[in-house]
Parts: sequence; C-alpha cells; structure tokens
Amino acid sequence: MCDTLKYRQLVSNDHRKSFGQFFTHKRVAQFMVEWVLHSGVKELYDPAFGLGAFRPNDPNIRFSASEIDQRVIDFYRENYCQDISFLTNEDYLYSWNRSHTNIVCNPPYMRFQKFLNRDVVFKDFERRLNLSLSGYTNTASAFLLKSLSELNGKGRLSYIMPLEFLNTGYGTFIKQKLLEKGHLIAIISLECEKEIFPDATTSVGILLYDCEVKSPEVRFYSLKSIKELDDFEYQDPVSVITINNLDPKEKWLPYFNSSSVVFDQKKTIKLEYYGRFSRGIATGANDFFVLSKSKAINLGLSPTEYTPCITRSPQITRPIVYDEDITDCLNSDKPILLFSANGSPSEAAKQYVKLGESLGFNERFLTKHRKPWYKTETRTPAPLLLGVFSRGGYKIVRNKSNALNLTCYHGFQPNLFGIQYIDHLFLYFFSEVGRNIISLSMRTYGDSLDKFEPNDLNTASVPSPDFFDSFTSEEIAFGMKYVSEFWVLPKEFELKFKPLIKSPQEGLHSVPSPSFSLSY
Ligand SMILES: C[S@@+](CC[C@H](N)C(=O)[O-])C[C@H]1O[C@@H](n2cnc3c(N)ncnc32)[C@H](O)[C@@H]1O
Repeated sequence: MCDTLKYRQLVSNDHRKSFGQFFTHKRVAQFMVEWVLHSGVKELYDPAFGLGAFRPNDPNIRFSASEIDQRVIDFYRENYCQDISFLTNEDYLYSWNRSHTNIVCNPPYMRFQKFLNRDVVFKDFERRLNLSLSGYTNTASAFLLKSLSELNGKGRLSYIMPLEFLNTGYGTFIKQKLLEKGHLIAIISLECEKEIFPDATTSVGILLYDCEVKSPEVRFYSLKSIKELDDFEYQDPVSVITINNLDPKEKWLPYFNSSSVVFDQKKTIKLEYYGRFSRGIATGANDFFVLSKSKAINLGLSPTEYTPCITRSPQITRPIVYDEDITDCLNSDKPILLFSANGSPSEAAKQYVKLGESLGFNERFLTKHRKPWYKTETRTPAPLLLGVFSRGGYKIVRNKSNALNLTCYHGFQPNLFGIQYIDHLFLYFFSEVGRNIISLSMRTYGDSLDKFEPNDLNTASVPSPDFFDSFTSEEIAFGMKYVSEFWVLPKEFELKFKPLIKSPQEGLHSVPSPSFSLSY
C-alpha cells in the first residue's frame, strides 16, 4: 500500500479527474480487504487498481487487478513494486468472460455525462448480461453491476462508492440486482468520506455482499469517523430492514438517518398524481430579458411585450403572493418584468433586440439555440412555487398573482384532477409534517445547502385524495386566511397532518440482535 501524495504532486488534477482517481483511505481499504478475505478463500481481485490500496501484504493471497491508466501503473512500478505481473493494463468495462471469488473495489466515479462511450458499454451489458442500463448510470454503478455478474458464488464483494444510486431513478435497477439473491448484508454510510468523492452529491459508503449467506435483512450503518471501523463489530446499525420491506423503487438513504421520519404509505401518494413541478423559465441572459418598470417604459416597449415575472427568490417575502405584491415590486422599480416580445415586435422592441445582439446576448448558450433567440418559453403562472435552493427549510409559495417565474423557483402545474387540491397541497407543504416528509427527497450539498430537483418533488409523498378530503372547504379557506395573515399554520392543521407520520415505535425500524456475524 503506498503513499499517494507523491503521485498527486506529480500528476495533474485534470489527469486524475479524467480517470476518476481518488484513493481509498488506508484504514478503510484494510477494513474492506479483511472483510472480503473472511470468506476463507485466499484470492482477491481489484478491477480498478490505482496505487494498490487493496493489495494485501500477505504473499499467500492470490491477488490480481486491472487498471486502465498506464501512467499510474508506471508510477507504481517505478516507486513501489517492480514485479507487476498481477496487474493487467486494460479497461475493465471492456474485459469480459471473467469469474472471481472475492472482489474489492473503489471504482472510478464519473457521472453519466462524463462516462465516455457509455452507449457502447451499455450495449455490451445488454448483449452479454441481458442487463438494460439507464442512460443515467455512472461509471461506479456500471463497475458494480459487472462485478456482481462475475462472482462465482464462493466468496464476497465489497465496494466503496457514492451512495446516490440509493435515491435515484437509475439506481432502482442496481438495488434490484443487489437484493436479487439475498446476498446484500450491509451498507455502511461513511459520513466522513465525502472528501474522496468531491463530485458526489450524497454520502459515500461501503457495500458488503456475501455470496455464501442468504440474509433475510439488510443492515444500514452510518459511521461518523473512520475510527469507528476499528470496532465495527460492536457498532449498531441505524436500521435493519427485512428484504420483503426493501423496495428498490423507494429511496433508501433515509435508512441511514435515525431521526428520519417514517410516513404512512397507505395515506400518501406521489405528488405527480396531482400535477408536476418543473423548472422556471431559463432566459439564458437575465441581463437582457429582465426589466424594471422604468426600463420597460424608457425603452418604449408596448405593455404586451413584457410580463410580470419573479426573477429572484427574495422578491417574494410572504407565503401567499397576490397581484398587489407584484405591483408593489413594480412600483419600487424592482426587476420583476420579463421581456417577451413573442408576437410581432414593435419598433421599440426591435431596437431593443438589436441592442441585445450588439452586446452578444444572442450568442449565449441558450439563446443561440432558440429561434428567434429573444423568444422565451410560453408558460402560464404556476399556482405553487418552491425555492430551488434553501438553507434550514424550503420556501413554499402560493402564487395567486399573474407572475411567471424564472429558475429561482420550481413551479407546480396541477393536472385536471389536481386543480381542486392546490390549497390543500400548499398547506401540506407549509406544515411541519409536510416539511419533514418532503425533505426526505432533498439533496444536500456542501455547507448545508439543500436543493430540490423537480423530479425529486414530483416523486415526493403527499397526502392521498382521501386524506385531503377529510378537510372541509371551510377548513381549507380558514387555513389559507390564517397563513395569509399570520404566516404560520393554525395548530389544528398540524394536528390533522400528524397521522401521516407513524409513531417511532411503529415506524422506525427496530434493530434485532445480530442473527449472523457481520464482520469477523
Ligand atoms: C477511484 S480510483 C481507486 C484506486 C485504488 N483502487 C484505490 O482504492 O485507492 C479508480 C481507479 O480505476 C482506474 N480506472 C478508471 N477507469 C477504469 C477502467 N475503465 N478500467 C480499469 N480501471 C479504470 C483509474 O485510473 C483509477 O486508478
């Protein structure tokens, strides 16, 4: 096992990034290797060797590895070990017909956008393994699926990788594969390990998979420091979920969080049942498209050539927004208008477009691909808005105004069925209970910055129509009036939403005493 500092000093960041070279912490590597070798078979394979974090010192272990990057191999040979006969310089994703007893790996992590030739790789997966991968699958997940298919059934596998697949759509298939044979023993979330996967949006963790065990349950651990691996056998899992209760389509990251709320799935459905959130309007050049009232007047634009539009999150200062609020912003000359000369432009609009072109706004990434470049998307005002980024709780707004919104907010458009439930949904999103449940779908970035993607919201859980119908229309009207006046929800509403959350005894997953030895 070598010190990676010298290599990191010698080789550029770009080179390391292009091969997904992040090196495993010594203690973590040791833990994984020991766990895998506990299968009893003295054989080990690493499909992504790097600088050999997983190469055991014990000469009695038959070790083999693959590595694509000649540079890292040369460095390893020159600095650490002349005999590298155990190592094959190859692209693991193109090397087929292998079988291994024990596999240990820290796979290269590249998001699907940077996954070169992924179409070719995915075709191979389909042809050889009959696995049809989502286009969003990243390199690490492809490595994992390939390794699972190469296990000969007599040993163990351990992978360290970002755990975002546990919460994403493309991950459903991977979870299915991990569960399929009942060999997934545990997943350990390393809250401390984020630094080795700077691109990962969620925690990094270790998968423990044992082909010789048929486990009725999967254990979810969360470790706050690498040191906790020293006495791992004494650590309690945060939750232990029986295979029957583990749905690959559900998000699994909440299982690492002991304070995570558990909601009653019988009383909830996905938000997309009522309608959908989508991104706000992306202009591609806010400097050009966003106007204040005085600017629009000075330009001589006709009032049909601009429309009220929330262009920045702080322009909304209360939970329910009316046309009067937008008028107030206009009167204080805030930039709350969107240039939208979408019909045949007036002379003044043509002049403004020309000015925009002289300043190069038509050459921006988005504008360049629009015809004509100054025509923005046609939308109707969204009755619910949700702040894209938040710290310490999201911003939900009931938009009763005629204002559109830019990308600072996601906008909800109900379907025909959902129209009647807009206020219900707003009150739910606004409630403590709603915040707890909706936040389970949130992605947390560094510095506790939370972010929602529209699809996270569309698949978040909200009350079923039956549940909402237990509110009378008078109650809903009262709730809306109360929030409008006091900016908080009436206590009665919080109480009415409470049954959506199961009590800890009923909802949190109990931790039975270990039924088999997890570690040694
Ligand atoms: C995350 S690093 C892990 C290195 C080492 N095993 C460790 O844990 O410190 C992944 C390694 O896989 C190599 N790699 C990237 N793509 C590969 C591929 N398609 N086939 C084989 N190796 C690859 C990278 O060059 C890099 O050295």
